[in-house]
Amino acid sequence: MKIFIDTADIQEIREACSWGIVDGGTTNPSLIKKAVEKYKSEGLDMERYIEEICVSIPGPLSLEVISLSAESMIKEAKFLYKRFNPISKNVVIKIPINTNDGNGNIGNYEGLKAIKILSQEKIPVNVTLIMTPEQALLAAKAGAAYVSPFMGRVDDYLDVADREDVLCGIELVRSIKKIFANYDFDTAIIAASIRNNQHVRESAEAGAEIATIPFSVLNTMVQHPKTEEGISRFANDVVSEYKQLFVGSEG
Ligand code: E4P
Repeated sequence: MKIFIDTADIQEIREACSWGIVDGGTTNPSLIKKAVEKYKSEGLDMERYIEEICVSIPGPLSLEVISLSAESMIKEAKFLYKRFNPISKNVVIKIPINTNDGNGNIGNYEGLKAIKILSQEKIPVNVTLIMTPEQALLAAKAGAAYVSPFMGRVDDYLDVADREDVLCGIELVRSIKKIFANYDFDTAIIAASIRNNQHVRESAEAGAEIATIPFSVLNTMVQHPKTEEGISRFANDVVSEYKQLFVGSEG
């Protein structure tokens, strides 16, 4: 399974990339907001900042549109792709599956229309805010290169909805995996909205091609109390005879 880092924080990106485990990255307007709040006082220039992210991520990097109509999303996607893809050749455009926010301003199909047009124009699309297998199926049919099922958020919804017909996060990933395999879709699954180690483990077991993981979860993935105990025991057990072996090794 590939690991993407789910952040727009350049320090987190650089740090995680230095570990050799990052295959790509995902951002969204909320993650950009967090980064802007953190680095605003340092005089952040948005275009330069995104360029920095593009060149720091060693694989596909998702940048999200902000409009709700297909026409505007397509324009924004083309702008993002033309402006940033030449720099690092890794830009993927994130389009929501459905931009209807429930206020009656927009229909349910703008996302699909945008996915179709952009995919036809060979701009890779990561379809975001996937909460059901049916949404994933439609996204794949419309030409999506990636779908992002939101594990954490559907788990939240399950808690509130308390309905037997609602899939939890990992059931969602498993179901999409099965559907895509049944019909040989090329669309890759990015397990998203990951909240904990279990989400990562279960995504890997389910065969998700990618998991996009927040820095905080990557940090907990590498830790274990017994690893800490082990490392301090090894340190305490170093005898002078063994230590002597390393004298001069630093030069
Ligand atoms: C995916 O690409 C999204 O950026 C992200 O996983 C959303 O997760 P959240 O539910 O933690 O906001």
